[in-house]
Amino acid sequence: MKAVVTKDLGWKYSGRKRFAIEHVDLEIEENTFVSIVGPNEHGKTTLVSCIKGLIPSSFHGVWRGSVEIFGQDVRKLSAQRLAQEIGFVFADPEAQFTSMTVEEELVFGLENIGLPLGEVKERLDWVSQITMIGDLLDKSPYEISGGQKQRVAIASVLAMRPRIIILDEPTSMLDPLGKDFIFEILTNIKKETEMTVIVVEHNIEQIAPLSDVMILMYEGSIAKSGPPEVFFENSDFLIEHGIQPPQATAFIDNVRKLGDYNGPLPISLEASIPVLANILDHRLGGKG
Ligand SMILES: Nc1ncnc2c1ncn2[C@@H]1O[C@H](COP(=O)(O)OP(=O)(O)OP(=O)(O)O)[C@@H](O)[C@H]1O
Ligand SMILES: [Mg+2]
Repeated sequence: MKAVVTKDLGWKYSGRKRFAIEHVDLEIEENTFVSIVGPNEHGKTTLVSCIKGLIPSSFHGVWRGSVEIFGQDVRKLSAQRLAQEIGFVFADPEAQFTSMTVEEELVFGLENIGLPLGEVKERLDWVSQITMIGDLLDKSPYEISGGQKQRVAIASVLAMRPRIIILDEPTSMLDPLGKDFIFEILTNIKKETEMTVIVVEHNIEQIAPLSDVMILMYEGSIAKSGPPEVFFENSDFLIEHGIQPPQATAFIDNVRKLGDYNGPLPISLEASIPVLANILDHRLGGKG
């Protein structure tokens, strides 16, 4: 089943001359991990806001086309239904907190939707493990680091078990260690849940290996999309559009131009090692 389908989607913020996004045709399969990349101001946040239904409900402007979530028009779903189906994590998690402790923060949302105590406890344990926040539960959400806050924000969204989770630059305000934690959590979500994950991210190196599909937004439209092995073909095009392929991918791409290899591009350092070993074997074997 398709989690998200957009057809000829367009949005122009009121007061703006140009459409922020235009002619966006997109199909996202259920239980896939999708990353949206692209330079600043090219429509990434606008696109995910349309998928989340924040646009048009909370903005003024001109809408074109359609967005469907599991076959239903987002503009016809109630705010409550949308919140059940889609969880949303921002770059700045601060705005989301309302409780005195991290545990209360997580429990509050779950009690609010009327879950029995046992289920609340079960979900609390589950999200604590997946987001590695077990040692933060009795702390105030205002007195922990930015990276820890982001983990709590992700935990509170995961706890609601939405079918789709959207993260808009979840690592952009964090230091390198904080970023690594978030990528580890994303890896856990991918492995341990059937959620459809849509993440807007500038860190190509770390997001590419996790992605089933990558989408390049450029000047408000999809300039390129596909699984990473396909997406990173024709690196010149990507570089012209502000995207630097992962180092390992770029390296093997260059080796490939020497004619020693014509297989698929590896997306991570780990995946490039056997490729390189093979090429060396072949070369040395050829000479011996
Ligand atoms: N609330 C708004 N009102 C008017 N114009 C907006 C609004 N939000 C975004 N825009 C404009 O829409 C276009 C796309 O912006 P958007 O925020 O979707 O880009 P983005 O790819 O998410 O950028 P970034 O990487 O900087 O987050 C830009 O020209 C931007 O100035
Ligand atoms: Mg944005």
